[in-house]
Amino acid sequence: MSGEQDIRRSLVNHAPLRRRPQVMVARMLDWLPPDTPLWGDDAPVAQLERRLAELLGKPKTLFFPTGTMAQQVALRIHAERTGRRAFAAHPQNHLHLWEEHGYAAVHGLRFLAAGDRNRLLTIDDLTQVGEPPAALLLELPQREIGGLLPTWDDLTAQVGWAHEHGAAAHLDGARLWEAQPYYDRPHAEIAALFDTVYVSLYKGLEGVRGAVLAGPADVIDEAAVWRRRLGGAIPDAWPLAVAALMGLDEQLDRMPAFRDHAVAIARAVTADGVATVLPSPPQTPMFHVHLPVAPAAAQRARDEIIEAHGVQVFSYVRSQPLPNHAMFEVSVGENAMAFAPDEAAALIRELVKRAEREDA
Ligand SMILES: Cc1ncc(COP(=O)(O)O)c(C=O)c1O
Repeated sequence: MSGEQDIRRSLVNHAPLRRRPQVMVARMLDWLPPDTPLWGDDAPVAQLERRLAELLGKPKTLFFPTGTMAQQVALRIHAERTGRRAFAAHPQNHLHLWEEHGYAAVHGLRFLAAGDRNRLLTIDDLTQVGEPPAALLLELPQREIGGLLPTWDDLTAQVGWAHEHGAAAHLDGARLWEAQPYYDRPHAEIAALFDTVYVSLYKGLEGVRGAVLAGPADVIDEAAVWRRRLGGAIPDAWPLAVAALMGLDEQLDRMPAFRDHAVAIARAVTADGVATVLPSPPQTPMFHVHLPVAPAAAQRARDEIIEAHGVQVFSYVRSQPLPNHAMFEVSVGENAMAFAPDEAAALIRELVKRAEREDA
């Protein structure tokens, strides 16, 4: 089986290419002004917190090592303040699927699933929520259904529902950078809908790792206490902050181009009718590709293509309710920009052919 080290080009945003230590460190050294202090008010972490407070239009922000920690802390604070223990969110939100239920195990919170797992949350779904929640968590875009986004009117109605019901509105903005061009409104206008906002430093920004939580000063001060309690107050977070500042400089303005390229790739990939993409057309730089092949065969075909061409088509495949159907995520960033849409489509056709051969 071919390993990650054989990958020379990749359609995957998080491919190890630019994260190879030599590449990352060289870019960071190039970017970092000499004599930058590493601690204190002018250090990269403080610079990043100030820059994101400005960009998101929030009084205060706080660096966290992960979004997982930042969001659990935000929800915990909303719970303490409202005296309620539950949060409402889409059935396929990151906290419920990917965090070993830390919200419950660590913070004693309950999750109220609202709506259908395969479509966007609606205001009608929220009216079915029986228990008054501490917070409504909205994820923009909704990653597990291909990066779908609610319309601006739906979004404001849902946040309005939360506030009318005495709940805080929290934004899982892991991909807020990628979602913003769809709304064609400043980041701060989107963030203004929410009481607290989490953004990621390593997805669209292509940094190393890390997250920032933004909100009112008193909430963020309390979040700093929880960050310390949870072991997240790391004094030497500057390399993560430098990579994120670099991402803000170099990647943020490219999001519309990434989205347009995702739309072009999706169009090319579906031209022969074998692959289906969701959503169609993509609303952000990410989308899902569905193929009529068995997941294990797709994964083997992906490994073969790395071996044959040094090209990574996706990171991992996901099974689907229908047997012999596979799905993978495409997330267009710097890596995928190096592929013309037709080249990406040809790779996926090759993948299907190889997978079908293995299936036979
Ligand atoms: C939608 C969403 N929320 C939260 C997170 C958590 O981020 P982190 O990996 O920094 O814990 C992720 C990470 O993939 C995510 O996709």
